[in-house]
This record gives sequence, C-alpha cells and structure tokens, in this order.
Amino acid sequence: MKNKALAEGAAVERSAAQCEQDAGTPLGSFLKRHLPEGMVNALRMIASWWRRTNLMLFSSFIYDFRRYRKWSSATSGANSEAKLQAHIVKEYHGLEKGMALPNPRPGFGKPRAKDLLQNCEHHLARYGLSQQLLDAVEVVRQYCLFQEEHDVDIRDISERLEFFEKRMEPVKESGRGGTTKVTEEEIRAATHGVAETFFDTRHSVRQFTDLAVDRQLIEESLKRAQRTPSVCNRQCARVHVLTDSKAKAKALSFQNGNRGFGSQASVIFIVTADLSVFTDAGERFQGWIDGGMYAMSLVYALHSLGLGSCTLNWSVAPGIDRRMRSALNIPENELVIMMIAAGHIPDSFKVASSPRLPVEVTTRFVTET
Ligand SMILES: Cc1cc2nc3c(=O)[nH]c(=O)nc-3n(C[C@H](O)[C@H](O)[C@H](O)COP(=O)(O)O)c2cc1C
Repeated sequence: MKNKALAEGAAVERSAAQCEQDAGTPLGSFLKRHLPEGMVNALRMIASWWRRTNLMLFSSFIYDFRRYRKWSSATSGANSEAKLQAHIVKEYHGLEKGMALPNPRPGFGKPRAKDLLQNCEHHLARYGLSQQLLDAVEVVRQYCLFQEEHDVDIRDISERLEFFEKRMEPVKESGRGGTTKVTEEEIRAATHGVAETFFDTRHSVRQFTDLAVDRQLIEESLKRAQRTPSVCNRQCARVHVLTDSKAKAKALSFQNGNRGFGSQASVIFIVTADLSVFTDAGERFQGWIDGGMYAMSLVYALHSLGLGSCTLNWSVAPGIDRRMRSALNIPENELVIMMIAAGHIPDSFKVASSPRLPVEVTTRFVTET
C-alpha cells in the first residue's frame, strides 16, 4: 500500500522535474531566446503547476475507477457473496416497491421474480442461507399472493417458490420483506413534536466536554441512522466507530480540518460505503450519495440525542486515502465518505454562524419546460 502511495508521489515529483527539463526542448530553447528570463520562469511555473494538478486529478480518477471496477459487480457480475446478495436485494425490492404503489398492475414483475428465485437458488447452493435470502422469499410469497388475488396465473413462480422453500425447510426464521401497513395518524403522532427548531439548532460543533459518550448512546444513534434511504434499499453505508484515543488520533492525523478541536471528540465515526452493493456503471457515484445521506442521518441522530457533532471532509488524494485505510484496517471494498467527530456538548459555547443562502436563491420552481 505504502509503496503504491510513494510511487504515486514520485510520479508527481517526476512530472515536476520534467518541467524543469523543458528548457532543453526546442520550444524551451525558442522561448528562452525570445522572451525575457522572468517571463520564461513564470511560464515554466505555470506549466509545472498545470502538469502537477492535472496528473493528480487524472490519477485520482484512475484510483476511483479501479476501485469501482474491482469491488462493484459492474464488470465482474455477481461473483461474490456480497455482490450476489446486493443483486437479490435489488430484485426483491423491485417487487416490494411495485406492491407499494397506489395501483399495482396485476401480472407485473414476472421476469424479475423468476430471476430473483434463480439468484436465490445460486445463493443457497454457493453460500447457504442469509437474511437477504429469507427476506427475498417473504417478498416472493407476498408477490404470489398479490398475483393470485388478481387471478394472474403465476404457477411457474409459485411452484418454484415452493420447491425452494422445501430446500430451506429446517430454517425457522422468517423474512421481513414485502409491504408494511402504516397510517397517517401514526406518522403524524410521531412527527408532531418535531419543530423547525430541531433543524435550526443543529450546528457543526467544535467544542466537546471530557465526558465520554456511552456505548449505549453511540449504538442508539447508529440505530436511528439505520433508517436512511438508499438505492433499492441496498444499504451500502458502513461505519467504523473509534473511541480509543490512539485510534482516534491516528485517524485524525490524516484529516485536514480538525485542528484545534478534533482531539476533544469522544467518538470519531468513519463513514464508508461498501462498493460491492453496486451493479453497473450508472451507479459509480452512488456510494458517495448513499454514504453521504447516511452520514447526514447520523448527524441528526446524534443531535436528537443531545450530542454535538462535526462532519469532517475526506477530500483527499489517493495516497492519503491508502495510508488511512491501511492504518485503520478499512476494508478495500469500502469507499471512505467522511469522518464525524462527536461528543457531549458544554453548557454554553460558540458555533460558527455559517449563514445560509435564502431559499429563493437555491430553489427553482419549475413551472414550464
Ligand atoms: C462533507 C463535509 C465535510 C466537512 N468538513 C469539515 C472539516 O473538515 N472541518 C470542519 O471544521 N468542518 C467541516 N464541515 C462542516 C462545515 O463547515 C459546516 O457544515 C458548514 O459550515 C455549515 O455549518 P453548520 O454545520 O454549523 O450548519 C464539513 C461539512 C461537510 C458537509
């Protein structure tokens, strides 16, 4: 790992050195002959800067490209347990989503249901049972019921389901997929006390007390964040929780925005996204999106528990990313999204005002196209 990062750094340095040599090229000699020395030096610096930044940008894209190609199923297909499970969740979610529409179309989703059962069979044969498999079976069960209620002939699917269920017979646990009934009343009752002030009082907190955050409280915040939406409910978000002071200091040493307060944080969360849940080129940015959404939920969850937090950017070059992963054993299939520093808040303290743009500036109501 480290060697790769060093090699990359060396490549950038080589490109800078290359610029120094430009004076020896025909263009360099021409400019040297016809322009004043100050201007030649300025041009040389610009060329060197351009090469260095472009090379860095290009190598960063290549880094992302390689990671996505290797760990998602975009080019490899579902060749691992995690990838196959992601395909299964994606497929069963298509069915449960269909059943949650205002007027589901009778007969919808037959090819998907067949494909899903086939993937479930592969999973059972290769990797055995998993929760995703149980959930998928429950969805297909409900799907068959829905189709039968609408007099759709789906014997081929229900027979296959039956056969599959027989193979899983010894298992007593049940799946949780399908649809769940909710009422407006219960949603209203639950959101009744949530006022605008909940949102207005969330700040990036850069002052924490010495009091450690209890494990229970950390777990509660994670539980709350778990309801974050994600593409086809594939839930790529992962989180590494650091409470040990050495581990926290190590993580923060790679991050450039925590000076003066990071060391006070009782907990550092490293939010990541598991690339193996993504299936094609179109999803190449989904890890950042879903991981970012998860991070926001976690920030609000911490806020709802009276804890302070500050999101910490992970806008780094590949070399730093590699070094941090290696230092903290972040699995290779995970994309680092950001860190979050959190802790108990003092009785009274200052936050940056961070004024916001007016809604009118950031919004366009589309009235015609
Ligand atoms: C992805 C992300 C990365 C951030 N990185 C840092 C950081 O490295 N250091 C820091 O002090 N604040 C960081 N912030 C916090 C922002 O400065 C802050 O959210 C913004 O100024 C708005 O202020 P508020 O969060 O108090 O409403 C980050 C915020 C986001 C969303």
